[in-house]
Formats: sequence, C-alpha cells, structure tokens
Amino acid sequence: MEHRLKSSVDLDWVRQFIATNLPILPVPGIPQIRLHKAGPRSGLRRLAERDPQFGSPYWAHHWGGGLVLARYLLDRPEAIAGRRVLDLGAGSGIVGIAAAKVGAREVYAADVDPYAIAAIGLNAALNEVAIKAVLADLTTDEPPAVDIICVGDLLYEEALAKGVTGFLHRCAAQGIEVLIGDPWRAYLPASQLRLLSEYTVPDFGEGAASSRRSGVFAFESNMSS
Ligand SMILES: C[S@@+](CC[C@H](N)C(=O)[O-])C[C@H]1O[C@@H](n2cnc3c(N)ncnc32)[C@H](O)[C@@H]1O
Repeated sequence: MEHRLKSSVDLDWVRQFIATNLPILPVPGIPQIRLHKAGPRSGLRRLAERDPQFGSPYWAHHWGGGLVLARYLLDRPEAIAGRRVLDLGAGSGIVGIAAAKVGAREVYAADVDPYAIAAIGLNAALNEVAIKAVLADLTTDEPPAVDIICVGDLLYEEALAKGVTGFLHRCAAQGIEVLIGDPWRAYLPASQLRLLSEYTVPDFGEGAASSRRSGVFAFESNMSS
C-alpha cells in the first residue's frame, strides 16, 4: 500500500507543531496507549492559518468508535495476533496502535488527511509500535492485501458511510474480516452488523465530558440490508 493522494503540506513542520503543542495524554480506559491530543492551548488555528486546505482536525482527538475498537482489540489479542491489519480512517492511529500492541504482523493506517499521517507517525513512535501510514482513499480501490480491516468512527456522514459500506462489502466478499467501532451514529448500517461488545466511553462529537455506549461490530455482508 502506498500514498495515493498528493499533498503540499510540509509534514516535517506539522510533526514539529504537534510534538510541541499537543500534549501527550493517556487514553481514557486504555492506560497502555498515549496520544498527542489537542488541548485548549494547542493553537490548532495556527495550522489552519498556514493552510487553506486545512480540514477538521479529527486526528487531534480520539473518537468513541476508535476508543471501543482499541479496547476490544487489547482485550482479545487472539483476534489480531499474526494478522495483517488495516486501520481505515485512522485519525490519531489509535486503533492501529492497539492492533500493533497485541501482535499484528503488519499494520497499515489509512487516512485522507495529511495531518493525520503526521499524527499517526508521532503516535506510533510514542507507543513504540511500527505502523505504515498511508495517505489515500482506499474505499475507491480494490480490496487491500490484509486479513482484517478495523474501522473506528468512520460512518459519521451519509455519503461517506455509503461509500465505506460498499467498500466493506467488496472486502468481506473477498474473505477479509471487518470490525467496526461506532457509538451508534445515524449512518451505521446496523442491519449488516453483529454486535460483539459494548463499552461506555467519552465521545468527542458530543463534548469532552459526555459518555455514551459504543459498540464493536462484526460486518456481516450476507445479512439483509
Ligand atoms: C472521526 S475520525 C475517527 C478517527 C479514529 N479512527 C478514531 O476513532 O479515533 C475519522 C477519520 O477518517 C478520516 N477519513 C474520512 N474519510 C476517509 C476515507 N475515505 N478514507 C480514509 N480516511 C477517511 C478522517 O480524515 C478522520 O481522520
């Protein structure tokens, strides 16, 4: 897997910015993982001022879906050990980091945001794991050469959820296992999912202090839609 999207972002500068301005914090309920996380004094606006293409800094937070999926993997190393894993819509890289910690053979973390690629590199190093960060929209490609795809909180917009769900169907049809972590957002294709586990975790989208039930699901492409 390789970078498919072009980016003019100065990743060295961004890495330096993140390292300097986003404090390293433990992840709630997952003491094994620490991440660079935006705080009130991080000044993310300075990144936006430098770059008219700067989008929402999803990579600077952990999301409910990624939190539950990371916990699930850490609780069940047997689901991942020795396997090739893709963390799709990786953001900070939290899910890929969990997969690497429990012994995945290879971990890819794909995101369409070049700032996420910078954050994933830093967060992987911080947690002493090897992850190949890929700047690409893999959902428009053929199924990748992995054994399992982990999707943390990527179904947050209708058109995106539709594209991702179609891609996951194609992957599942090729025998790739798919796990989804999601706080029951509106576009979750619930009829095609089997609930494996639930945890109550903070959900970024509803404010830092809020907690809600979030599920880990197996994607069952042969279930009725
Ligand atoms: C809500 S964040 C979730 C991040 C992380 N998985 C978590 O749960 O903490 C969604 C991430 O998906 C990325 N994304 C959006 N569309 C994508 C696509 N088509 N392919 C890969 N990543 C995508 C965004 O840039 C963002 O970093």
